[in-house]
Amino acid sequence: PDGSRELLLSRIQDVPDYPKPGVMFKDITPLLADGKAFSVLTDALTEICREQDAQKVVGLEARGFILGAPVAVRAGIGFVPVRKAGKLPGGTLGQAYDLEYGTAEIEIHADALQPGDRVLVIDDVLATGGTAEASVQLIRRAGGTVTGLAVLLELGFLAGRTRVERALDGAPLAALVTV
Ligand code: PRP
Ligand code: MG
Repeated sequence: PDGSRELLLSRIQDVPDYPKPGVMFKDITPLLADGKAFSVLTDALTEICREQDAQKVVGLEARGFILGAPVAVRAGIGFVPVRKAGKLPGGTLGQAYDLEYGTAEIEIHADALQPGDRVLVIDDVLATGGTAEASVQLIRRAGGTVTGLAVLLELGFLAGRTRVERALDGAPLAALVTV
């Protein structure tokens, strides 16, 4: 109603056949480069953060870092990275998940969360939901309480929502734009 959805959608560029033939890549770099749109995005995610009374933002490497860090700053709370395996220097917990071909693993510092810390997970795109599902499992194993998952863009035709809602166990999945 306030036009923010249209603004955000207008700054996401469709790139056909990237990274491979038949895939339509959703490029958020035009949105990031537009100060007004990036601010509108950050405000919308910060509002979700406040509604959920989150105590930490967890951002998912790499694009979830770009979106999540300014939200943490605006909300006045800390930021915790979930990284691709092998990038964190301290003691870690890892969670494997399936890709179209093979598997991937993400990690969090084992001591990054206090028991019961209320965590909002932020990423740019929800596609199959594999990354988000693994992050929810990982955060719980690290002692956090997932208050919700917020994404800029949900690819509705991939049914990631069903998978992630099962993992979220009643916590909300907020997508600012669904295509
Ligand atoms: C992309 C995107 C999401 C994830 C969504 O990240 O940024 O994190 O895939 O896909 P899924 O719902 O099927 O798991 P990617 O791992 O390509 O890398 P990046 O964020 O480091 O660019
Ligand atoms: Mg990503």
